[in-house]
Amino acid sequence: MAAKIEDIGACVFDAYGTLFDVNAAAAQCRDALGGKADELSALWRTRQLEYTWLRSLMQEYVEFWQVTGDGLDYALAVLGIEDDALRQRLMDIYMRLDAYPEVKDVLTALKVGGFKTAILSNGSPKMLSSAVENAGINEVLDDTFSVDSIGIYKPHPSVYQMAVDGLGVNAERICFMSSNAWDAAAAANFGFRVVWVNRFGQPQERIPGDPEQVIQTLEALPPLLGL
Ligand code: LAC
Repeated sequence: MAAKIEDIGACVFDAYGTLFDVNAAAAQCRDALGGKADELSALWRTRQLEYTWLRSLMQEYVEFWQVTGDGLDYALAVLGIEDDALRQRLMDIYMRLDAYPEVKDVLTALKVGGFKTAILSNGSPKMLSSAVENAGINEVLDDTFSVDSIGIYKPHPSVYQMAVDGLGVNAERICFMSSNAWDAAAAANFGFRVVWVNRFGQPQERIPGDPEQVIQTLEALPPLLGL
């Protein structure tokens, strides 16, 4: 298949929801959560993200691990669940979330194809290294950039700039993948070439920035890059 996205030097990936399955923790605790698992997962993820945006606006940065715990505590409170052991279990799983099934093969194909590969994420360095190790993808990543080194969350433009500076590749030669529609939009608005991995079949956000391509899983990425 002919390349649709040309002149790319590096492929940069969002982590949570894009490489790592944010619903895996609640799914693995379905025995304890029963019918509340899906609602808990959705509430948890929503609050986790909202707290990153709120804290960035408030200039009250704390690392993503704390925000993740705070989001979980809110979600548990909404659902009336008081269970410290269950909370600990959910957080332990979140520290080493499963990667989506196609992730390792796709990253390997990109490396073999000559692209630089990296993660650019809100995740704290410890969360990211733990998930990367669990997924066995360390070898096929050139870099992992965490917002923790600048103390502000996506979608602040300085987050996307970290990949440009860290990789030494201009924004227009960076292909950025995110399943989070708002992250995909903001990255496109920043100047990346963006592939929105619309795993959850969501409508496009009404904010500035248009992804160049939309795919359902990362399996469709290598052909878009001419591999
Ligand atoms: C991240 C969140 C946005 O990994 O999923 O940056």
